[in-house]
Amino acid sequence: MSYQEKHRPQLHFTPKENWINDPNGLVYYEGEYHLFYQRNPNANDHADMHWGHATSTDLYHWEEHGIALAPDELGTIFSGSAVVDKNNTSGLFENGSGGLVAIFTHDGESQQQSIAYSKDKGRTWTKYEGNPVIPNTKIKDFRDPKVSWHEDSEQWVMVLACGDHIQFYGSPNLINWTYLSSFGKEYPSHIGVWECPDLLYLPVENSSKKEWVLIVSINDDGPNGGSAVYYFTGSFDGKEFHPNEKSEDALKWADTGKDFYAAVSWDNTEDTYWIGWMNNWQYAGVVPVSPWRSAMSLVRKMSLNEVGGDLFLKQEPIITDNNKEVISYQNIDIQTDTTKSYGISDTGQVNLQISKTSASTKWGMKFVTDQNEVFCLELNKAEDTYTLYRTEGLTDFSEDFPEEIKGSLHGLDVQELQAIIDRSSVEIFLNKGLSVSTNLIYPKGTVVQLEIFTVNEALQIENITCTNLNS
Ligand code: FRU
Repeated sequence: MSYQEKHRPQLHFTPKENWINDPNGLVYYEGEYHLFYQRNPNANDHADMHWGHATSTDLYHWEEHGIALAPDELGTIFSGSAVVDKNNTSGLFENGSGGLVAIFTHDGESQQQSIAYSKDKGRTWTKYEGNPVIPNTKIKDFRDPKVSWHEDSEQWVMVLACGDHIQFYGSPNLINWTYLSSFGKEYPSHIGVWECPDLLYLPVENSSKKEWVLIVSINDDGPNGGSAVYYFTGSFDGKEFHPNEKSEDALKWADTGKDFYAAVSWDNTEDTYWIGWMNNWQYAGVVPVSPWRSAMSLVRKMSLNEVGGDLFLKQEPIITDNNKEVISYQNIDIQTDTTKSYGISDTGQVNLQISKTSASTKWGMKFVTDQNEVFCLELNKAEDTYTLYRTEGLTDFSEDFPEEIKGSLHGLDVQELQAIIDRSSVEIFLNKGLSVSTNLIYPKGTVVQLEIFTVNEALQIENITCTNLNS
């Protein structure tokens, strides 16, 4: 991307101008990954929702297209998904051919589910004349349909967010939907509204097993305040979802940073990939950027991993190429209670990878800008936490912004750390994506230096690799 305004991400998808939020309609079709998204085409705030459109051939470089879906007499176009109707189950395509079907929420007097179809690789869409396909049943929050083909029961399955629970629907043709079951009322204390669900069947690494995962975005009540994404592992039999996590205490967060929301997966891919909106509803409308607002996260490949007898999501970021310059430092010894400094970037975009060999358990790093602002990341095995201090740079646009952001290490010592800095964001992947933290930052300067510190124990680092990235 060649836009160069202050804070403009270079590695993450942003629109040329105006507002975006949730990723929508993620589908792979005829060589292209489609990224539709919530879009206000005319202003830099959340209003008048359309679906915008971008495509990529590698999940990293994106090309922005025009508007895909615009409001009509049933309402504005809220979040939803897209599938490839290969066998023309819908009958919306010519005999013997298939195409793309989008399933989305019409937000009008009430929220209802509708569909549209495209015969030209997602560039233009026709709304189905019988919309809505699921009319509202008097539920206030009734939205964000995510549809996929369920092999065993040979039907399309929809997961739908309904305020404080999820509903499942089944269909042979994407048009006639039957209610299957509800899930979630047994977790009654959450105060946030449930949004943007997803149902995935993920491989468990180092085994031949696969397990079902139900994703739920929750707006308000996240681990660090505001919006966040959590998940349940379990089983799905074509009708009902049965979670392994039986109580609210067992809830698992997909990303414990403050700025990863409404994340959903691509349909019709072999491996599973997802992307989130890199923002938080607490301050999404006032983040200090223009003429665009805001960015998507990097795409991440998803799997499950067994840690201490429990299953956790693992997410590995997709960065396809563009090594501008690689700086690396090897075999570093840092004495107790000391710090070492390294130049890491001159562009403000860097993929930093660190592997540690010692068992040092309280250590961390400072990302320092050329204006001496400091963003500090502390890893503490005894407390089983990481803490990111996001208190420097521009922070005064919202009292919810300058948080100390904390998350779990899942009982693991951090041996591998990856941090991807892209001017106004830092995505942190600990132990190859077993703990993830995505956060916006608004430094006045450019992050240029890394300072590594250790507390109470000497620290041995095998390798620091800083890849300066171009768009
Ligand atoms: C989530 C969300 C969805 C809704 C959309 C509206 O961020 O609130 O539930 O469909 O955004 O833009």
